[in-house]
Amino acid sequence: MKNKEKSFKKNIDLKLWKEILLYSLPYKKIIIVLSAVMLLVAGIDAILPLLTRYAIDNYIVTEDLTGLYGFSLIYLLIIVIQGINIFALIYFAGKLETEMAASIREKAFDSLQGLSLSFYNERPAGWLIARLTSDVHKLSSIISWGIVDFVWGSAMMVAIVFIMLRLNFRLALITLIVLPVLLIISIYFQRKILREFRLVRKINSKITGAFNEGIIGARTSKTLVIEEDNCDEFSGLTGKMARSSIKAAIYSSLFLPSVLVLSSIGTGLALWQGGEAVIQGAITYGTLVAFISYTVQFFEPVRELARVFAELQSAQAAAERIISLIKTESDIIDREEVKEKYGSILQPKKENWPEIKGEIEFKKVYFKYNDQEEVLNNFNLKVAPGQKIALVGETGSGKSTIVNLLGRFYEPVSGEILIDGVEYRNHSQSWLQSKIGYVLQDPHLFSGSIKENIRYGFSEATDREIKEAADLVQATEFIEQLPAGFATEVGEGGDLLSTGEKQLISFARAIISNPAIFILDEATSSIDTEMELVMQKAINEVLKNRTSFIIAHRLSTIKNADKIIVLKQGEIIESGSHYQLLDRKGYYYALYQNQFYRGRERQKQRITS
Ligand SMILES: Nc1ncnc2c1ncn2[C@@H]1O[C@H](COP(=O)(O)OP(=O)(O)OP(=O)(O)O)[C@@H](O)[C@H]1O
Ligand SMILES: [Mg+2]
Repeated sequence: MKNKEKSFKKNIDLKLWKEILLYSLPYKKIIIVLSAVMLLVAGIDAILPLLTRYAIDNYIVTEDLTGLYGFSLIYLLIIVIQGINIFALIYFAGKLETEMAASIREKAFDSLQGLSLSFYNERPAGWLIARLTSDVHKLSSIISWGIVDFVWGSAMMVAIVFIMLRLNFRLALITLIVLPVLLIISIYFQRKILREFRLVRKINSKITGAFNEGIIGARTSKTLVIEEDNCDEFSGLTGKMARSSIKAAIYSSLFLPSVLVLSSIGTGLALWQGGEAVIQGAITYGTLVAFISYTVQFFEPVRELARVFAELQSAQAAAERIISLIKTESDIIDREEVKEKYGSILQPKKENWPEIKGEIEFKKVYFKYNDQEEVLNNFNLKVAPGQKIALVGETGSGKSTIVNLLGRFYEPVSGEILIDGVEYRNHSQSWLQSKIGYVLQDPHLFSGSIKENIRYGFSEATDREIKEAADLVQATEFIEQLPAGFATEVGEGGDLLSTGEKQLISFARAIISNPAIFILDEATSSIDTEMELVMQKAINEVLKNRTSFIIAHRLSTIKNADKIIVLKQGEIIESGSHYQLLDRKGYYYALYQNQFYRGRERQKQRITS
């Protein structure tokens, strides 16, 4: 599986971050403003002890408080400015975070739109959604808040070291002895803590998966009597998670005291050496106080920087996954000269698009999914414009594969598919898509109103056209009975509607652009007899004047086809009209007998019950 989480890399991958920085280029301005604000914040933080020093040396030690009021006002003013700065930093960092997240998401989404079905087959929807939500969030937040902490932390450190050295060189060197130890300890602990948290997250996603299986699959587990195994597995996972959480908590609780001890050692050194210096008159009393403040203050940026680096490492995995998603290339792409002439998916040149008659020919088509067995092996079929083809065959015989190839969701491994006599890769994908209407095996509606769903993919449709499309597929009657008519919300995935209703809506959607080719890959799921009649009428209407491929399980639908093709393991074993095939007394005949009698049986049961 390609979606296996990559194991965590230890070092910072500079190349990757350079690439990520490219994504932040459009936000140069915000980043510069934000950095400037952070420099100001750090600067003010760094000079506050100097102010205290001034107050002590000039007012307190001299016991002359006259100037103190003016001084307090200046101090107050600086604090107010700092308050404004902090407001600005939260505002700009938040803005950067949301805007970057939106733009990365958009890029990833655009790239997803262009990918072929085979990409989606390999990756569960949940995985993709996690990339677009939690990974993007993580990345954008580490970038924006990382800038904040990084600029502030490094400016603070430089400023403090500089000021301390200026105040008293010798004393500064003595107090800063603890610095390297502090750095090492911070990085060590942050790494440990992050590792445990990462484990917790990993186990957590496994637990969610187990939840899913345990709950959604409950019925199956019950019939298989494996509830006990499920529980064992589940408690194993939760136990692991608890252990990791506790470890993380222990590391966190060890980290702070260690920093505090070090910081106290630093302060102690300052007091001891500084005190002596004060007595000898080498430094003022105010300088000593400032020194002590600095030793305490110094630890915060160190801790922050250690955290930023640790987080950068953990965000790296997210960054890698997102970049690889953005860079994934579709395996179905239009050739350059085709794009030149007919435009790309996002920028079609519709003025160059040819009209379509709807003649289709499969010529020596070979096809297999990935590295699996061949599904189609020298498949040949010619369909005249307006002809209705029904595909019949047992499950796995290749019916859906044929229509997927026709829609160019996949391309033949070798051989050609000609539309109006032209190999379809000489046209653009979007041209083809606009000429074909599909109702696929599992009709999917998007959350939104019925109207929006019918208009989907053909946004220029007017209300009248929408109504006409609904009329044509006999959907108007049921739609108008709904509380809000065409404005009724269908719910997520359309689950407020029945399967039959969803199918009718997807029929309307398929024909609103008046496609020359129509594909119906019908779900096996049974719908009630009344709905079946409605569907039958809808299908008959829709198929008029269109080349069509129908995969249906109702013989009533198939019977009307111009040509019925019976498939077995990707090969045509019989073909002809309904009556021709019945005369042959072959596979189709057997199938028909079977369904016919079963239908009669059901009718009898209904009458007697
Ligand atoms: N996405 C896929 N990846 C790999 N193999 C696939 C994929 N889709 C179908 N197959 C395989 O290709 C063969 C043909 O499948 P296809 O879906 O075309 O059958 P079908 O006739 O539509 O069946 P059904 O009546 O169940 O819909 C089967 O062996 C199936 O297992
Ligand atoms: Mg199928």
